Amino acid sequence: MVAELGRAAVPVGVIGVGNISDTYLENLRSSYSPFVEVIGCADVIPERARAAATRWALPRTYESVDDLLADEQIRVVLVLTTPASHFEVCSAAVSAGKHVFVEKPISVSVDQASALVEHAAQVGVSIAVAPDTCLGTALQLALQVVEDGRIGEPIAASANMLCHGHEKWHPNPAFFYEPGAGPLMDMGPYYLSALLGLMGSVESVQASSQASFGQREVSSEPLKGTWIDVHVPTHVASTMRFERGGIATMVTSFDVWASQAPHLEIYGSSGTLVLPNPNWYDGQVLLWQVAGQEWVSLSPPVSANIDRRGLGLVDFVEAIAAGAQPRLDASLGLHILDIMESIGVSAKTDCLVPVSSRLSGPPLLQA
Ligand SMILES: NC(=O)c1ccc[n+]([C@@H]2O[C@H](COP(=O)([O-])OP(=O)(O)OC[C@H]3O[C@@H](n4cnc5c(N)ncnc54)[C@H](O)[C@@H]3O)[C@@H](O)[C@H]2O)c1
Repeated sequence: MVAELGRAAVPVGVIGVGNISDTYLENLRSSYSPFVEVIGCADVIPERARAAATRWALPRTYESVDDLLADEQIRVVLVLTTPASHFEVCSAAVSAGKHVFVEKPISVSVDQASALVEHAAQVGVSIAVAPDTCLGTALQLALQVVEDGRIGEPIAASANMLCHGHEKWHPNPAFFYEPGAGPLMDMGPYYLSALLGLMGSVESVQASSQASFGQREVSSEPLKGTWIDVHVPTHVASTMRFERGGIATMVTSFDVWASQAPHLEIYGSSGTLVLPNPNWYDGQVLLWQVAGQEWVSLSPPVSANIDRRGLGLVDFVEAIAAGAQPRLDASLGLHILDIMESIGVSAKTDCLVPVSSRLSGPPLLQA
């Protein structure tokens, strides 16, 4: 790790200090402080940046994103803005010569994401992407089990993200019903990063989708009782074919009140693996093998779903220091976005859609 090699913690600036930023700042200021030092933050709403800097005792506050990007001490920028602005904010950070770690999705279109990746290559900086839950103990264990051949050859998988939307808890949930979000773009990246780690690149998709409710009533404060117009499909059923063989079905929905469908199962030629919610970092992994004919728990049940957001940022600064590709390289974010965009096209056209991008980063399984 960077700190163990005797290097100083890498100076980081945070852009966008809304709902998820406190979780990141808490983790970065505690568990991950040997690796990264949050120098300061900026937001399009400067009062938010000032309040967050005070709350987390950050050394500097910036009145604007440009001010933060002009700070030469900052080497890495953590982008936590809403999806519609990821491209604009990341592009500005790259132009300023900063390495960028961005929340999902990397951008709202493959064209934007490709331009961003090319821009970063020209400037000579790196980009890495959330989610980082795939670096947590549960998925790492599952990846090792598959790598060791304990379910044989992976032949299929089933993924289900079924809930009734984020307007029950998020203070400003309208963006979840705008392009760049919806259940597919917002939650799909957790399931897709796990599926890609387990089964490799996707070569084609087919899908159907609908928006079952045209408007959504907010039940969280402070906007309780207001209504959101829905501008994206909110129930998306998809089938993916993998380049090295195998099929996965994935349903992402904000329209389901209750479900007992498993979050993620992977089926092999000689066994089955059941994973916990890939939005979590840990949890119980269950293995069934033809040889034993019984379910075996490979890890203890989760007592507390510890949020370790920031794990991917630590992996990122470590990779930069080593001159290596990060595990959550932009090519992963780009392939995930390409799959999701292709699912959208397939649902609109009722056609099978080939996916042209491929994974080109290091394996997700840590050595
Ligand atoms: N909220 C969660 O639980 C959660 C969990 C995981 C990932 N995420 C991801 O994190 C990102 C942010 O989500 P959130 O829930 O914190 O959203 P949010 O709306 O609560 O916060 C976003 C912040 O970004 C600021 N912002 C927007 N555009 C900006 C711009 N151009 N320049 C500077 N600041 C700008 C807003 O003022 C706001 O303070 C999203 O990509 C989301 O998918 C959120």
